[in-house]
Amino acid sequence: MENSRMSLAERELEIPVSEPERQYYFIERARKDLEKMKEAAGRQLTFCVTTFGCQMNARDSEKLVGILEQIGYIEETDEEKADFVIYNTCTVRENANQRVYGRLGQLGHIKKKNPHMMIALCGCMMQEPEVVEKLKKSYRFIDLIFGTHNIYKFAELLATRMESGRMVIDIWKDTDKIVEDLPSERKYPFKSGVNIMFGCNNFCSYCIVPYVRGRERSRDPKAIIREIERLVADGVVEVMLLGQNVNSYGKTLEEPMTFAQLLKEIEKIDGLERIRFMTSHPKDLSDELIEVMGQSKKICRHLHLPVQSGSTRILEKMNRRYTKEHYLELVRKIRAAVPDISLTTDIIVGFPGETEEDFQETLDVVRQVRYDSAFTFIYSKRTGTPAAAMEDQVPADVVKDRFDRLLAEVQRIAGEMCAVHQGSVQTVLVESVNEHDPKLMTGRLSNNLLVHFPGDESLIGKLVEVSLDECRGFYYIGRQICI
Ligand code: 5AD
Ligand code: SF4
Repeated sequence: MENSRMSLAERELEIPVSEPERQYYFIERARKDLEKMKEAAGRQLTFCVTTFGCQMNARDSEKLVGILEQIGYIEETDEEKADFVIYNTCTVRENANQRVYGRLGQLGHIKKKNPHMMIALCGCMMQEPEVVEKLKKSYRFIDLIFGTHNIYKFAELLATRMESGRMVIDIWKDTDKIVEDLPSERKYPFKSGVNIMFGCNNFCSYCIVPYVRGRERSRDPKAIIREIERLVADGVVEVMLLGQNVNSYGKTLEEPMTFAQLLKEIEKIDGLERIRFMTSHPKDLSDELIEVMGQSKKICRHLHLPVQSGSTRILEKMNRRYTKEHYLELVRKIRAAVPDISLTTDIIVGFPGETEEDFQETLDVVRQVRYDSAFTFIYSKRTGTPAAAMEDQVPADVVKDRFDRLLAEVQRIAGEMCAVHQGSVQTVLVESVNEHDPKLMTGRLSNNLLVHFPGDESLIGKLVEVSLDECRGFYYIGRQICI
């Protein structure tokens, strides 16, 4: 029977209740809706997904792209030219929110000129009720708003928007659901992020993530392995296992398993060459994991281990559940097991109550560990977190001064750490043509450093040996060595 001749009730009856079938049904329905929109416009319609924030968000965006392409939209990299713009937002720091509002204002002007244009917002920022209130009130031109827990329902929400013509808002507070086997598009053919868990149970006192990403849920190891096997069959050689706290993987499974055990299983997958993971919480970094990393042939020589502060007093107020000494001991153990490992970190400056002495402790950790690189952040007050209610917030000028001093130290040490590889020959995964010089290719070392070397596009996705000839601060210029 023709869809148009079906009664509403009949149409409701044919909608599958189980996932992912339900979403495939809505992809088909949205495809038909889009066909009509294309006819009306007399041309193809395009989309642009703009991602803010972390690797988790980047992976979520790939899922959105996969669905949009199945529906029949064509990708357009210039946001201002696209007919459907999706912002996948981040809310970890206040300035991330401000950027979204600023850009939305501009989009509103563009939308006035393009009658076919739609705008969707999703991601972490949408999990904050005040944000959604503000959008509903002051940004009426938005077509679709959804959150982090129901991203798998994108096709259904989009079809609802297309068919109703009104603003669609669907935000869930939390979920225990993980929907497998939805379409997804990869940004790179040779490497891919793989979610192994969602949410976070740590409640660091400054952090909004547990409130916007919900409680910790691990994916079934069989589903993870199956996904990686499929990726490898499709040409992927490197995976990045993603979770807010990968070290506590498996605790919530019916048959609990550790992250180290999962890594051992993934290591067995033939054809997979490199395994990365992110992010590790120091409190859960086990001796078992250090041992597995020491023995592995595939796990990359890189560990991102956010320290946040070097002061045990501040770490306690942050609810990090480790001390400066415990952290330094972990670093000693990991370096003993994997001597050439590259260590990177996240540091927050200006947490409430941070004194000059506390800050000196942070500098001391930076000097003792000698990080290969560090992301440094100025503390940002996030409404609803325990730290936002703490009294002794540090004045902005004091924080700025500490931040500058920290950055200078981090950069000095990172430069020295980078230079130690000069003259060595290392395996790199070739990722792209160099952005500034098309005669150069850009490859990534196991330790995450980049090297640029003469070559051509046919090398992309291949593992090659490169001599690191010249250190240029934080990267290398090299040449390919044929063995
Ligand atoms: N202010 C500043 N930085 C923060 N981060 C998380 N929450 C905040 C905040 N409120 C930083 C932490 C974390 C990284 C992803 O962002 O360092 O590891
Ligand atoms: Fe930003 Fe955190 Fe959400 Fe990632 S999980 S997008 S860092 S708020």
